[in-house]
Amino acid sequence: MDENTKNKLGVKEDKPNDWFETLYSNSNQEGEGVPWANMAPHPFFKDWIDKYPLDGQGKKALVIGCGMGDDSIELESHGFEVTAFDVSESAIELCKKRFPQSKVEFVQADLIQGVPAWKHRFDFVLEIFTIQALPPKYEKTLIGNISDFVAEQGKLVVITEIRKEERSYENGPPWLLNYEYIKSFEGHGLKLIEQTKNLEAEMGEEIHLSIFQKN
Ligand SMILES: C[S@@+](CC[C@H](N)C(=O)[O-])C[C@H]1O[C@@H](n2cnc3c(N)ncnc32)[C@H](O)[C@@H]1O
Repeated sequence: MDENTKNKLGVKEDKPNDWFETLYSNSNQEGEGVPWANMAPHPFFKDWIDKYPLDGQGKKALVIGCGMGDDSIELESHGFEVTAFDVSESAIELCKKRFPQSKVEFVQADLIQGVPAWKHRFDFVLEIFTIQALPPKYEKTLIGNISDFVAEQGKLVVITEIRKEERSYENGPPWLLNYEYIKSFEGHGLKLIEQTKNLEAEMGEEIHLSIFQKN
């Protein structure tokens, strides 16, 4: 993204959350102006869950950076008790308006701050494109906080685009991940148990769906 667009959107390295609220507060239930809004579950996630249906009965799931909420509703339809959060209060309000019948708990929270009350609480955690939406200097914190949410033997699914080029603030957003993210999660007690790669990445060289399990 060039400097002009960054300035227009209000992207700032030291206030990395603020532009998301600006974007969603100017949007509506149709997701107007939100570039990543599929208004449906993410296609890569949907293909995977259709192929390998999950039984969420009696299990808790967490959706990180839930955006317009469709992935959370998909997990609810598999029987999970779902909590979904986004840093933008307006995004959360849009989710509640879009899905008034849903039992998903949509809440505002900040992944950079983390949520200590959610430590090791979730059997299934879903992360799609949130790490890459934040500047590289937060990567370690984000990966640590995401790992903390996963319960013993719980699973984490990460969907992210990959690029070999070194991550730097100048190159984003989005700040696509390098392969090293796998080792970082493994350093937090998660083991990569399965990975699907797709070469139809929009901006990077590959898109990954990586499944980790907590030891
Ligand atoms: C690229 S979007 C992806 C949204 C959604 N996961 C999807 O795939 O459609 C990144 C999302 O992360 C949210 N986000 C950004 N910073 C965050 C933070 N610090 N804590 C929680 N959510 C954050 C944004 O508001 C946005 O909804």
